[in-house]
Amino acid sequence: MSDDYRSIARERMKGFCRVCPVCDGRACAGEVPGMGGLTTGASFRNNVTALADVTLNMTVLHEVKSPDTSTKLLGMEFKVPALAAPIGGVSFNMTKEHVSEDAYIEAVLSGCVAVGTVGCTGDGVPPFIIDAATKALQAHRGIPFIKPWEGKELYEKLDRVMECQPLAVGMDVDAAGLVTLRKMGRPVTPMSTTELAQVIDYVHKKGQRFIVKGIMMPQDAEKSVAAGADGIVVSNHGGRILDHCPGTASVLPRIAAAVRGRLTVFVDGGVRTGVDVLKMLALGADAVLIGRPVSVAAIGGLAEGVSAYFNSITQQLSQAMLLTGCSRISDISPEVLYSA
Ligand SMILES: Cc1cc2nc3c(=O)[nH]c(=O)nc-3n(C[C@H](O)[C@H](O)[C@H](O)COP(=O)(O)O)c2cc1C
Repeated sequence: MSDDYRSIARERMKGFCRVCPVCDGRACAGEVPGMGGLTTGASFRNNVTALADVTLNMTVLHEVKSPDTSTKLLGMEFKVPALAAPIGGVSFNMTKEHVSEDAYIEAVLSGCVAVGTVGCTGDGVPPFIIDAATKALQAHRGIPFIKPWEGKELYEKLDRVMECQPLAVGMDVDAAGLVTLRKMGRPVTPMSTTELAQVIDYVHKKGQRFIVKGIMMPQDAEKSVAAGADGIVVSNHGGRILDHCPGTASVLPRIAAAVRGRLTVFVDGGVRTGVDVLKMLALGADAVLIGRPVSVAAIGGLAEGVSAYFNSITQQLSQAMLLTGCSRISDISPEVLYSA
């Protein structure tokens, strides 16, 4: 199945994504809109190389026989600590005609739920992105991420998605750097802690959780805690907003050391395999989000492709836990990381 959906995706994504053997941001540097990283693509590539630079302590003389990859996040049981990242704008980022925005996000959310995880939905200037997200969220559990719009539009969009009773609501505050929004005449700006706290308070008053996405510094993580966030996503938006950021695996340990235990720490950027999931957890995350490979799976194989992808992540994570002596997710600690 997995090779089938990748070759179908390669056809369907022509002109947007080459579906490379390893999705590392080299071939698509500068392709935003599209699936690449901004300008030189360094931030996207740094995500992948920072993870590749992390090596593991392999151990085989122990009692662990069948590791359990399940974990509890945001009050829900997950079969694997890996979620689909919010990605929107199919027609200008992925494929012109083969898969609609509606079909895409329906495939991501339903494909995730089928294998015991959850997908996130994106947002953007064209209303069809939030329209598709809302439709899919009415049918399946997910986490919508809304852009930090100004004034009334923000609260209207929050209300729309909160009516679907999602697992949590998120905001990609780092969208302040998005060229796609600027090109469409709707740039957004960074947020003060006071502004963020007001939004979080609004969401909490409706009984829902709030996640801040786009954290690359311990200071911003601390500000998210101060504003009342329930979770953060350590992320540079897949390298799409500021060139020459470090990889998220490089900044994660300091951020996690600052705030872990006070909110849920998610991370994304360059996670491609179950081994990468193990590395991110050992570096301090509670769970990961996976972006582009899930898009490829959805464009090539719809819900079945997404489920197959997450099943392979689960199987690879289980194997990696077996060979690092971890029987439970809570056993994954910095001790599994090799240091010379
Ligand atoms: C085509 C594309 C569209 C994206 N759209 C959104 C979005 O609407 N909202 C958001 O929070 N992040 C968006 N992202 C960023 C992803 O959620 C995620 O941070 C990133 O893709 C993770 O890196 P990875 O693709 O290397 O796994 C987008 C990324 C891509 C590639």
